Amino acid sequence: GKRIGILTSGGDCAGLNAVIRAVVHRATGYGWQVLGIKEGTQGLLQRPVQYQTLDLGSVDGHMMRQGGTILGTTNRGDPFAYPMPDGTLKDRSDEIIGGYRELGLDALIGIGGDGSFAILHKLAQKGGFPMVGVPKTIDNDLGKTEVSVGYDTAVAVAVEALDRLQPTAASHHRVMVLEVMGRDAGHIALAAGIAGGADVILIPEIPYSIESIAAKIQDVRNTGRNFALVVVSEAVKTLEGTGVKKVLQGGEKRYGGIGDYIGEKIADATGAETRVTVLGHVQRGSMPSPRDRLIASAFGVHAVDLIAEGKFNRMVAWSNRGVIDVPITEAIEHYSCVELDGALVKTARGLNIS
Ligand code: F6P
Repeated sequence: GKRIGILTSGGDCAGLNAVIRAVVHRATGYGWQVLGIKEGTQGLLQRPVQYQTLDLGSVDGHMMRQGGTILGTTNRGDPFAYPMPDGTLKDRSDEIIGGYRELGLDALIGIGGDGSFAILHKLAQKGGFPMVGVPKTIDNDLGKTEVSVGYDTAVAVAVEALDRLQPTAASHHRVMVLEVMGRDAGHIALAAGIAGGADVILIPEIPYSIESIAAKIQDVRNTGRNFALVVVSEAVKTLEGTGVKKVLQGGEKRYGGIGDYIGEKIADATGAETRVTVLGHVQRGSMPSPRDRLIASAFGVHAVDLIAEGKFNRMVAWSNRGVIDVPITEAIEHYSCVELDGALVKTARGLNIS
């Protein structure tokens, strides 16, 4: 039988353990051995190589339900330009390839996002080893797959936050601003805003003005409602066109995040009492949603099947109610922002969300 390695790389999200569990089940079905590499590629850098043997006994029971990753992960250190303690960058790719060889692996399954796939693909090419990718990211910004593992749970967490903000907003007649993650894409904000009944959704793909937000809040007041919910994606820029970090560097005004900036602008423009919640990493933790568990399971099984068929340098993907696979290079190249003519933007406009 074969011996395959599996690692999780980049930011964690809900559903990673469900992928690992599915891979172990399918591989065991083929009579193969699975080695779980610790801390992404970091485990392959260390000597001895850091890994654990995974069998049905180690992944069943609660693994499907468990957030995070039992293997650990990291987004530190591109092995081709690895930051050394003395401040220099060193190419350590040969050490990683050496670590892979030391384990005697026949193939590697990498669970990651675009950044991790770019590195893993480069390593696989250089080391001449077979690799298959499983897409995960709460941001849902990977091209060539309709969804990635972790996105559905992150949206559910953001919707729950809106569900909890609504009654307190109503009781105090306030405008509640919720800042959500998403890196450079507005997918989480858009989906959570629609499902959570937001009045305003700000995403980096669509320019905004404070006037139109204030007008929307006035429209809401005209209907007799005295509170509003606003969702802001973390990547939204200030009206000065800077990211919030730049504003902070400017040193004149201090904002905790774009949510604070928007909250202050809304308060100034409408006179409304405004409160801001920055959701942060709670979007990454928690039990995976049923849909994330399903996608993770389907992806894990298909990834092992690809290795059995000898199909490599592929990423498993979700398309049209099922699992497909695509060249991993295409997935790396196609970054997926919110499509302006897509169904969700149309839905938001149909609901008069500003
Ligand atoms: O890519 C996932 C993500 O959670 C983004 O939404 C967010 O911008 C970033 O990672 C946060 O990174 P870190 O965990 O390093 O703070």
